[in-house]
This record gives sequence, C-alpha cells and structure tokens, in this order.
Amino acid sequence: MSVCDILKMGDPRLLRQAQAVERFDTPELHALVQDLRDTMAAANGAGLAAPQIGVDIQVVIFGFAINTRYPDAPPVPETVLINPVLTPLAEEQSEDWEGCLSVPGLRGMVPRWTHLRYEGYDQFGNRISRDVDGFHARVVQHECDHLAGILYPMRIKDFAKFGYTDILFPGLDADGDD
Ligand code: NI
Repeated sequence: MSVCDILKMGDPRLLRQAQAVERFDTPELHALVQDLRDTMAAANGAGLAAPQIGVDIQVVIFGFAINTRYPDAPPVPETVLINPVLTPLAEEQSEDWEGCLSVPGLRGMVPRWTHLRYEGYDQFGNRISRDVDGFHARVVQHECDHLAGILYPMRIKDFAKFGYTDILFPGLDADGDD
C-alpha cells in the first residue's frame, strides 16, 4: 500500500495511550497492517507500532528471519498483535541494547522482563497467546510500550549506556538512520 513517515521522539502523538481495536477483519484494519509492513520493511525495522505512523490504535507488528539492525538476534516469527496484554512469567529481568525507528541513530541499554506471556488478536480476530523469552520477549515489550506512549529512553537506567549507534557499533550495517 504505502510507506509512511515515521514520527520521531518529541512528537506528542508518540506519547498517547492508544485506543483498543473494536472491529477486526475490516478493510481499514488490513490497510493499516499493510502500511505498517511496508513502512517497517523500508526502514529494515524489527517491529513497528501504529502510533509511530500517527495511528492511535493498539496494533503492533514485529518479526524477521534476519535483521541487519540486530544481526545477532535470533529469528522472531512475523506477527500482527492487536489489543495486547503482557504478563511477566518470572521476576527475572535482563538488559540489552535497543534502538527505535522513532529515535534514529541512537541505542540504549534497556531492562526488560526475560520471560513473558503475550496475548491478543491478529487482524482477523484470531486469538494469539504465546510464552516467549529473550529477544522475542524484548521486541514485544518495546513495541507494546509504544501503545502506552512509552519510548525506550524512558526505561534506561544507566545513561552511560546510551549513545550513537555508529559510535557504539562501528561495524554495524544499520542502514544509515539507525
Ligand atoms: Ni520503537
């Protein structure tokens, strides 16, 4: 359908609490999912949330086989997740580097739940429930934070571990922007 502009940090539209989706399998919802896919692919993203393209509803997409922005990350299944509910399955948290297409050129070390259950719906209204951990769990938490108006820098504990991607990871093919 189309590659959309991605809103950048500082835009107040990224700080809203997104609205729940009430009707599934509609032309409008399918068009939104396609726009998210096209936009994520054009940016080589690992995930993208509807608020990042200015659409204030609870829809995120994520997943990849290989991602040049996160070359060491294991594959994550391509997923459309709507009206998500996240439940940590253990107290354990882990820290790792994150970037965001709305915060171009930067990376930060972010604590996340290591083990997580996520539940919600796909664009057809089918229920999704998965227990995941590691990078998969991290990506889901990052994307779902966008639905609550939270950007990853708001979760950084140690600002000594926040910097420019090309300085932190000189060899990384991050496609210029991030
Ligand atoms: Ni993001």
